[in-house]
Amino acid sequence: MTRDLFEKIYKNKGPLGKWAEVAEGYFVFPKLEGPISNRMKFQGKEVITWSINDYLGLANHPEVRKVDAEAGVAYGSAYPMGARMMSGHTDLHEQLQDELAEFVSKEASYLLNFGYQGMVSTIDALVSKDDVIVYDVDAHACIIDGVRLHLGKRFTYKHNDLDSIEKNLQRATKMAKASGGGILLISEGVFGMRGEQGRLKEIVALKKKYNFRFFVDDAHGFGTLGKTGAGAGEEQGVQDDIDVYFATFAKSMASTGAFIAADQQIIDYLKYNLRSQMFAKSLQMQLVAGALKRLDMLRTMPELKEKLWENVNALQGGLKERGFDIGTTQSCVTPVYLKGSVPEAMALVKDLRENHGIFCSIVVYPVIPKGLILLRMIPTATHTLQDVEETLTAFSAIRERLENGTYKRLSAAVAAAFGD
Ligand SMILES: Cc1ncc(COP(=O)(O)O)c(C=O)c1O
Repeated sequence: MTRDLFEKIYKNKGPLGKWAEVAEGYFVFPKLEGPISNRMKFQGKEVITWSINDYLGLANHPEVRKVDAEAGVAYGSAYPMGARMMSGHTDLHEQLQDELAEFVSKEASYLLNFGYQGMVSTIDALVSKDDVIVYDVDAHACIIDGVRLHLGKRFTYKHNDLDSIEKNLQRATKMAKASGGGILLISEGVFGMRGEQGRLKEIVALKKKYNFRFFVDDAHGFGTLGKTGAGAGEEQGVQDDIDVYFATFAKSMASTGAFIAADQQIIDYLKYNLRSQMFAKSLQMQLVAGALKRLDMLRTMPELKEKLWENVNALQGGLKERGFDIGTTQSCVTPVYLKGSVPEAMALVKDLRENHGIFCSIVVYPVIPKGLILLRMIPTATHTLQDVEETLTAFSAIRERLENGTYKRLSAAVAAAFGD
């Protein structure tokens, strides 16, 4: 008899799942309630929310809510039925694609139902088995999963490390010459955990020495970086040299959906070869109409991005002034690194939420190295300077308690239960 497939699942919930019993509902799968904004409710109490990617504050903007509601009335949530290629294509989808392409200075764009699947599928469609992929070792899961579908060679380079990028381009060049394929290099515009921008400018400069195509996932850069908000490519002055540009609607656009943008010929190819779009229902009309409104606001309301950056600068500046380690962020993503165990991190977050009314994401081992606690904060345009001040005061208090061993004592029971 073979072993029951579920046996391993019954025994082991996985590296994060093992915390479910003590963490679920509070540290993971928490329920934030009330309208999406700078302050929401968590377990009945008001908290300042630093964990929502609503960078420009559009999620609950009255003009956005109005268009979303009107589109809901006009189209319902079913329209259009079918995949784009078969029966789910509309003028509004085309209009949004044209406007997005123009906004990010590309010839054409194509809509994706979700960023994650869209990235996976785009990587899959761009390469064939003779091609070689070169990508950052810290890449988002959707890039890793896209690369997993690739039947040919792939190389990771050390995170944002130019020597490593070049070394791997040399290896890839050798491989591609032997196989007769080409090279796809993939970076993020902004790395979502630590907030560093990808080395887009330096990577583009390498195009003079190596023959590769450059694909950028700019989920966190779109709407937040660059003079017009067109993202990390615009910020670094290399948008034209990005061959395929990706952004999701899940962050600055405060919605669902995503798009890729590139030369017309590439988009024409992708629209006939992106399996995640060919074999899935079209992006629903309410989301398309809503995205048109959001894009219009990105273009015409620079004050949203200005307010966002006022908050980012106040928060990051204040944390640095108080001696917090915020790593090497070059974006709105604001990481705060502290030293401590997982149980200590739990006690600390509980203190932040219960006694200071601060809600931010917590990242621990195995996502980051053992012994480190990462509190990840996402400032938005809806935050106020008062929110920033209260948060800075709270952070000073929790650091003191972390250093004087309060959390170690509080978390002893949890630590004992998990052998930490
Ligand atoms: C870097 C990056 N790429 C892709 C995605 C996936 O986008 P979506 O939420 O639209 O699936 C995310 C998260 O939203 C992300 O942070």
